[in-house]
Amino acid sequence: MTEQRFSGKISEKYSLYGMGSPHHDEFEEKIAEIVGEFSKKITDEKIRLIELGCGDGSTTIRLVNADQRIAVDTIDNEPSMIEQAKNNLKEFIEKGKVKIIYADVVEYLQKLENSSVDIIASGLVIHNLTGVQRTELMNEVSRVLKSGGLFVNGDKIAQSDYEKHQEDLWNQIQAYDLYLKHGLPELRKGWILHCIEDEKEDRIMYDDVEVERLKDLGFKDVKIIFRHWMDAIIFGIKR
Ligand SMILES: C[S@@+](CC[C@H](N)C(=O)[O-])C[C@H]1O[C@@H](n2cnc3c(N)ncnc32)[C@H](O)[C@@H]1O
Repeated sequence: MTEQRFSGKISEKYSLYGMGSPHHDEFEEKIAEIVGEFSKKITDEKIRLIELGCGDGSTTIRLVNADQRIAVDTIDNEPSMIEQAKNNLKEFIEKGKVKIIYADVVEYLQKLENSSVDIIASGLVIHNLTGVQRTELMNEVSRVLKSGGLFVNGDKIAQSDYEKHQEDLWNQIQAYDLYLKHGLPELRKGWILHCIEDEKEDRIMYDDVEVERLKDLGFKDVKIIFRHWMDAIIFGIKR
């Protein structure tokens, strides 16, 4: 089982995430837009989408709404986040459009059959893994996606240009000052410490590395779109 980086304050107050990341709605909309555009090309009656990490369910709602045929299985390993997601996704769970699964994302994918999934999507989850876990995960993503399937990940993806990355990081850390104005210094501290951990050599996720990884795994049309500070979206189609 991998570690859980979303317990405590940042989980309790996850609904305030957008305060420190004012572009967050737009970012999630873009992920869903890519899923919606891709779905238009699928002629099947049902589209199977696996979401890696539901968090509080804010990305999940957009994914399930991206196309009427989509059913989402969303995987998360943090009980307090799952509780929030259950609440926020109640209506979709009742309709059988969303299923929340308590598991580690790598361990879950390892149990799936080859070429069995149309879309794998994720928002702000994969950067939480260590380099070794990320390699394992991406090998599984490639194995379980159908040929022609979509992988889309909106995440904290550092620019490989050091100066640009420093600037992005500084802008993000400064944005957390807004929590002070709302009397939430502990939340600010929690997110800054999370950022510091994300910078560690065995965790930081670089744009050029992820593009090359997808190409090496046999993805085509690999692109990075949308960047606001460290948040960017990478996607590709499995050959
Ligand atoms: C920042 S939240 C993302 C929420 C939402 N997608 C968003 O953009 O606001 C990240 C979620 O990933 C989950 N997560 C991180 N590592 C995981 C792992 N190895 N297995 C399952 N879930 C994981 C955390 O528990 C957390 O709920």
